[in-house]
Amino acid sequence: MLLFGGDYNPEQWDAPTWAEDVALMREARVNAATVGVFSWSCIEPREGSYRFDWLDATFERLHNAGVAVILATPTASPPPWFSLAHPDALPVRADGTRLVHGSRDTYCAAAPSYRQAAARVATKLAERYAGHPALVLWHVHNEYGTMCWCDHAATGFRTWLQQRYGPAQQGLDELNEAWGTAFWSQRYGDWEEVLPPRATQWLANPSQTLDFRRFWSSELLRAFVEQRDAIRAHTPAIPVTTNFMLSDTPVLDLWEWGREVDVVAIDHYPNSRGSSAYDQIALAADMARSINQGRPWLVMEQAASTTVEDHAVVHRPPGRTLLDSLAYIAHGSDSALFFQWRASRAGAEMYHSAMVPHAGPDTRIFREIRSLGHALEDLNEVSGSTTDAEVAIVLDFDSWWAIEARRVLPARVQYLDGVRADHRAVTFAGHLCDFVPADGDFSRYKLVIVSNTYVLSDEAAHGMHQYVRNGGCMIVTCLSGVVDSSNTVRLGGYPALLRSLLGVRVEEFHPLARGELVPLCGGGYGSVWSERLEAHGADVLDRYETGDLAGGPAITGRAAGSGYAWYVSTRLSDERNNLLVLDALAAAGITPALAKLGPAVHGLLRRKGSGHSWQFWLNYGDTTVDVPTRGYDLLLHRPVPARVELLPGAAVVVRQDGAP
Ligand code: GLA
Repeated sequence: MLLFGGDYNPEQWDAPTWAEDVALMREARVNAATVGVFSWSCIEPREGSYRFDWLDATFERLHNAGVAVILATPTASPPPWFSLAHPDALPVRADGTRLVHGSRDTYCAAAPSYRQAAARVATKLAERYAGHPALVLWHVHNEYGTMCWCDHAATGFRTWLQQRYGPAQQGLDELNEAWGTAFWSQRYGDWEEVLPPRATQWLANPSQTLDFRRFWSSELLRAFVEQRDAIRAHTPAIPVTTNFMLSDTPVLDLWEWGREVDVVAIDHYPNSRGSSAYDQIALAADMARSINQGRPWLVMEQAASTTVEDHAVVHRPPGRTLLDSLAYIAHGSDSALFFQWRASRAGAEMYHSAMVPHAGPDTRIFREIRSLGHALEDLNEVSGSTTDAEVAIVLDFDSWWAIEARRVLPARVQYLDGVRADHRAVTFAGHLCDFVPADGDFSRYKLVIVSNTYVLSDEAAHGMHQYVRNGGCMIVTCLSGVVDSSNTVRLGGYPALLRSLLGVRVEEFHPLARGELVPLCGGGYGSVWSERLEAHGADVLDRYETGDLAGGPAITGRAAGSGYAWYVSTRLSDERNNLLVLDALAAAGITPALAKLGPAVHGLLRRKGSGHSWQFWLNYGDTTVDVPTRGYDLLLHRPVPARVELLPGAAVVVRQDGAP
């Protein structure tokens, strides 16, 4: 079944509203509601004293209405009593400011008192609702991602570092070496001297910063695992997840996290109203699916219309809720869930849209929600099916963190911009794109793009050599392979361990000024970054046309073993990158699973082992498109003999075997 529904907060409403809620949920075909996300102060109003009456009643009401419960642990929002009783568990910023309650996420995840209280409330919930027939999924916490630089964080960081580098003096010597503490007199003589990268006078140590990021991701993971295991002890058959937020600078290493959740769930809020909303959806969805190892995953939260963030209010245009929800599903999601069911009357997110708006059910938004619910009922047979991709992009959280450790590289060099551009080029060519870790298994792909993979371990570099020599095609883009896992430069020219594979040597970086474009002889231009590149065995495929690098190689290619590897020494303009990726796809011998019918029309395929497959066609453009397809239209309940007309903003789902 495809899950449809959203975060449900009955604690914000009264009894007549609860009755209307279940009636409207039925009407809209809602089949799942997430309860309890921010309910800690209602569940445990005083330390150690619990109230479940309202939650019991919510379970019963939802169950009687045929709505399954996704039960959240409320640990992203400790109640005020908690921060007064445990002031040491309040979060501290890098500049030493201790925050107080009054919002959400006011805790330090490394504080023992917080961890105990979180595990305790999770256990109480699991004891209470174990065996309840409405319970289908656990949603631990909410959007893990809050950081802290307090003394608890410092203690945890030292323990983590001792596990990485070894205890005692020898471990400290290793750490001094790995962090390059000979620079600026940073040598540590005692473990107690080692701190999180707090506010300091001038630039921080990039190796320390990268290790702190790694530590914090794993500290949050330990907090998640504690709750997960406490829950599993009572409900071993119920899957456990948490909702990831795919932000511009991630706090979590999602490859590590993906192994610990039973199913990957994401929250996603595209901020474009145009056709590029699809690029954002495809990127997030492809990441979620890949982190879930190709299995169906969940959209846990999306907005029915407006999101309110940083004073920028973005609404979803009419019709988009269905189109976007089908786009996530086409990319492997088995749900369309929302934040939230009913728009709050008060609180920081009072103007965030919801499935039931302030104006009530007689609204454009609720009508669209109801249509979506009915459409999803028609698509239930798709759930459990998977997708196939022959192209992958490397997604590397170390590189993301290291590139964005401020002021080592210019702020305009953003890791995700490089990944996004390459993902857009694969999408433009009509291919589904997976993501893969830098040291992952590339063998199932015919083309892998190593997109600004700045941190490269020996093992990952070795795997890349093997992949190409065994026949793989690989594009490596600028700023890859520059530093080792300690964030220390590899000497002799970049991209160091990949030089012999690519047949190139980067001698010098030429960062480009904001807005500066360097034309290439073969058309298009580079921006943001360029490099003085020498070909040592590679063919020069394009050169810089003007500027200090005029005449020098910009793009190279080289056959290695039975594969082929390109190197791109700048951030290419979209048109030029599209051409390069099309060339690489042709060289790799890959054609799209479904014909490409224009830049804003997207065709995707989901399959089930039994031989069933479903075509999803999504029109994000503003013209009607004639789609050649045959089978059975699941939304309009009719056979499709040869083609369908796809109106702007419309979607069609066609079962391939045709049988109704
Ligand atoms: C995420 C959070 C929700 C809410 C929305 C707002 O989905 O989990 O609690 O803050 O963002 O967009």
